[in-house]
Amino acid sequence: MRLSLAPLRGLTVATYRTCYTEYFGNSYDYAVAPFIPLTTAGRIQPKLLKDIFPEACGSLYTVPQVIGKEPDRLIEMANAMKEYGYTELNLNCGCPWKFVAKKGRGSGLPENPEMFEAMLAAGVEAMPNGFSIKIRLGRKSTSTLETLFPIINRYPLKEIIIHPRTGEQMYEGDVFLDKFAEIVDAFTAPVVYNGDIKTVFDALYLKKRFPKLSGLMLGRGAFADPFLPSDIATALSSGEEYPCELGDTLPHTETLPHSPERKQQVLAFANALYQRYSAELFGPAPILGRMKEFWEYTATYFENGAEILRKVQHSKALAEYEQVTKLFK
Ligand SMILES: Cc1cc2nc3c(=O)[nH]c(=O)nc-3n(C[C@H](O)[C@H](O)[C@H](O)COP(=O)(O)O)c2cc1C
Repeated sequence: MRLSLAPLRGLTVATYRTCYTEYFGNSYDYAVAPFIPLTTAGRIQPKLLKDIFPEACGSLYTVPQVIGKEPDRLIEMANAMKEYGYTELNLNCGCPWKFVAKKGRGSGLPENPEMFEAMLAAGVEAMPNGFSIKIRLGRKSTSTLETLFPIINRYPLKEIIIHPRTGEQMYEGDVFLDKFAEIVDAFTAPVVYNGDIKTVFDALYLKKRFPKLSGLMLGRGAFADPFLPSDIATALSSGEEYPCELGDTLPHTETLPHSPERKQQVLAFANALYQRYSAELFGPAPILGRMKEFWEYTATYFENGAEILRKVQHSKALAEYEQVTKLFK
């Protein structure tokens, strides 16, 4: 079972991905980078692709992701990416934001089966053997994806990453595991599960309940606990099994408190990220912005995390940020 890092726009940027592997090793088999919008024909500026410049991606194998609904632009973008050596490409069919979905992009794309199919055809043509999609159960309903089986199964996708929520749920509320169970075996392409994996128990549960899964994709859970990918990789490779009877929901069994050594490692990682963002971004506002987003998820690693997070969020100057982050225990 392969492990991947989910695309989290603004969070899992190249600097994070590279720094992460330096501090926590190569437990991920690959990362899908945050989406790059398909732009008007002939206007692909190198700047647009800077998050996937091979020299910026370090040793973590990276799959670029695009968002859009225009097949000709998809082909053009794929060709630009091939020039950087990429042979894989992922299409975002799940972005829930209204202003995106209403225009037929992201989670709005599967609502238009003809456009959706045209994008699959273009993707497979542009990146043979390397084209994948990331998709939800639907935008408004949990039943849209199943209506698309015939279309999806017509194309040799590298994989289909499923986040079993609707677009309207955004990122909250229960994942629909029973619905996922109904559809997971209907795809000819390998299926990757994504959504709310927060503990090793969650990964073992998913492996036991859905033995045919080809992979697990970790997002916010791995952001909150940077050791989670290596803990999951160790458990999976040692053949560990979910020890309880399968319930209907992910178990999320709590793992706090973390060891002092692990906390030190997380703080060292946060500090390295801060140094790198300080070197590459201009002015305190963007640096603070990035680190505030980082701590929004990672503060929970520390027992006093909620209290310090509030102070981080109120920091207006870099010196203030540096002082308050010393208080994480
Ligand atoms: C801040 C944020 C940014 C995201 N950006 C992207 C993105 O660029 N592309 C994408 O396919 N999904 C994106 N997602 C969705 C995640 O990849 C993932 O599907 C979702 O968070 C559920 O997985 P998780 O519970 O493991 O985080 C984003 C989610 C969040 C919270």
